[in-house]
Amino acid sequence: MRSIDILTTLATATLLHSAHGARPRPSEANMTAPKVILDNDWGIAQFIPYLIALDAGWDILGLVSDTSDSWALQTGLHALATLERGGLSDCIPVYRGADYPLLQTPNRFQAYEALLGTLPWEGVFKRENITAEAEGGDPTSGDPGRIVRAAFEMPYYGYPNATFAEDTPAAMFMVEQVRKYPGEITIYSGGALTNIALAVRMDPTFAQNTKGLFIMGGYVDRMVQQTTGDVFQASLVSDINFVVDPEAAKIALSAAFPKITLVGNAANLLISTQEFLDEIYEVKNPYSELVHAYYGTGLPFWDETAAAVMVDPSIVTDSVEFYVDIDTAYSSPYYGYIRPYQAALMPPGLRSVSYVNNLNLTALASRIKHSVQYPKGCADLASL
Ligand SMILES: *[C@@H]1O[C@H](CO)[C@@H](O)[C@H](O)[C@H]1NC(C)=O
Ligand SMILES: *[C@@H]1O[C@H](CO)[C@@H](O)[C@H](O)[C@H]1NC(C)=O
Ligand SMILES: *[C@@H]1O[C@H](CO)[C@@H](O)[C@H](O)[C@H]1NC(C)=O
Ligand SMILES: *[C@@H]1O[C@H](CO)[C@@H](O)[C@H](O)[C@H]1NC(C)=O
Repeated sequence: MRSIDILTTLATATLLHSAHGARPRPSEANMTAPKVILDNDWGIAQFIPYLIALDAGWDILGLVSDTSDSWALQTGLHALATLERGGLSDCIPVYRGADYPLLQTPNRFQAYEALLGTLPWEGVFKRENITAEAEGGDPTSGDPGRIVRAAFEMPYYGYPNATFAEDTPAAMFMVEQVRKYPGEITIYSGGALTNIALAVRMDPTFAQNTKGLFIMGGYVDRMVQQTTGDVFQASLVSDINFVVDPEAAKIALSAAFPKITLVGNAANLLISTQEFLDEIYEVKNPYSELVHAYYGTGLPFWDETAAAVMVDPSIVTDSVEFYVDIDTAYSSPYYGYIRPYQAALMPPGLRSVSYVNNLNLTALASRIKHSVQYPKGCADLASL
């Protein structure tokens, strides 16, 4: 990433009317469409959240990449490649997120595991494995600035020809957009909260001037599940989005967003099956090909569930409000996990979140299916 003095740049008056803003988008014609910025650790089959937002008629100001399952450079390249496959690169810009979490590093994480036990799904902190990368695995540990091209050399895919929008850090892009459209932008997070925490710290009005924050993450009461199933079962409740960057999760969840929705346990309710992937693939297009070939079976539709709840809260059939903190003690076995509270017992400074418990899985499945089978293109956005 370009070495840039973020604070100096932010201090200049040019920020408010900055040339750093997204390129003009056709969808700007529809002033009533809800605006969203989607921040995620994008992957070869991890793009359905933006298709869900498009399918619902939402105006995507940009995609932001983060470090969670792999490094933010690689996940940003996946965002570019998947947009390009669907002819969407000309109308949706991609901004590169921060390489490292606020404090965590591979060494620090691996030292933690030696003391407190192995996380069954280690995401970006899995040890670097050259063999796995040569076979197309995304990079983990090692140098965050490296690109693994083999991950793009797969059938139905390709290395992106489109490039990152500008040399603007993701957090700065989010700050700029929220200043441009105060009160209008929903922030979606399907990965670690690093960029969002940086935006919160850069601009004290950022959180309150968004429309709200939707997060995939925040499991509660899943300790027994980590012992009774096999390691794969346990891996499904590794709270990787928070564990990769516990400090960022704490900053984001204690910031003044008008509304925060956590999709944690409920994100594990709808599981991919071969039957469902085949059903999606009955309509052939670049997205259904990628989903069919690479989504995999047995995996919950994690990020898709959070995106569906965002665009259509009416699919939620049960939710609760509670106050939430994140364990940020490095020596704790729950480092990175959430701690829910009731108001009478909580420490000062916590915010209330809406926690989704259950939702209409039929409605969720049909939304996923329709979004992938009939993806919007730039021309559709222009005619919104
Ligand atoms: C603008 O977007 C909203 C929300 O997606 C949609 O309901 C409305 O029909 C759109 N308006 C036009 C003129 O296309
Ligand atoms: C590295 O990846 C290869 C190929 O996926 C796998 O067979 C091997 O077990 C991995 N090595 C380690 C130490 O995990
Ligand atoms: C980029 O262009 C090359 C050459 O035309 C193509 O093979 C590749 O698939 C393209 N990348 C994407 C993501 O479409
Ligand atoms: C769930 O969603 C489906 C499809 O949208 C709908 O037909 C059904 O009535 C919903 N079920 C409930 C319990 O709301």
